[in-house]
Amino acid sequence: MGLKTPLIIVNFKTYESATGRNAEQLAKICEKVAKQTKSNIAVAVQDADIYRVSHTVKIPVLSEHMDPIGYGAHTGQVLPEDIKANGAKGSLLNHSEDRFEIDDLEKSVKIAKKLNLTTIICASSDDVSESVAAFNPDFIAVEPPELIGGDISVSTAKPQIITQTVKKVNKIAKIPILCGAGIKTREDVEKAVSLGAKGILIASAITKSSNPGAALKDLALGFSK
Ligand code: G3P
Repeated sequence: MGLKTPLIIVNFKTYESATGRNAEQLAKICEKVAKQTKSNIAVAVQDADIYRVSHTVKIPVLSEHMDPIGYGAHTGQVLPEDIKANGAKGSLLNHSEDRFEIDDLEKSVKIAKKLNLTTIICASSDDVSESVAAFNPDFIAVEPPELIGGDISVSTAKPQIITQTVKKVNKIAKIPILCGAGIKTREDVEKAVSLGAKGILIASAITKSSNPGAALKDLALGFSK
């Protein structure tokens, strides 16, 4: 596994502030904060931006998606070999904005393992987290979809989803649990850590901020308490 905990993954999604040239600028800010705070920060970017971002920063770059395919006739799909060749260290899988069929998810993790790509499976609940633990991904990120992009964090609105995920997954395999959805402040992070999370998956608090560096720094400090 290439990524260390405690871990912050900034998911750039398709925000204008976080795609194309802006993706490079935002990734540089993330890298600066990682250095300043000595934090483990990775960025998940559009597959079209993997090459440019991974050639701009040294922090780990992830793909937001990959498809369970190999070389051949698969027009428009995201080839795991290609995200790796372009500099990705791994991929988010099954984000709630980009769900997988369960068989495809299992297949994707197997392909990623063969290619030595880190896998972060997103799950909408503790039960889903428990089911996907059998695939033995490197991380599971629990994110209640209804809280994504909102102002109330998962650690405040649904603390039990984090504690239950940690409990249920740990019975199956030792997989670090990340959490995400609505995380905005250092206090949200501190709460998540106290509930057993080993990191966070975050988007809008950074991509929509007028000062993403300051916002990310504040969140990173939540791990140092
Ligand atoms: O992948 C992270 C994400 O879904 C959480 O989004 O905007 O609530 O931080 P946000």
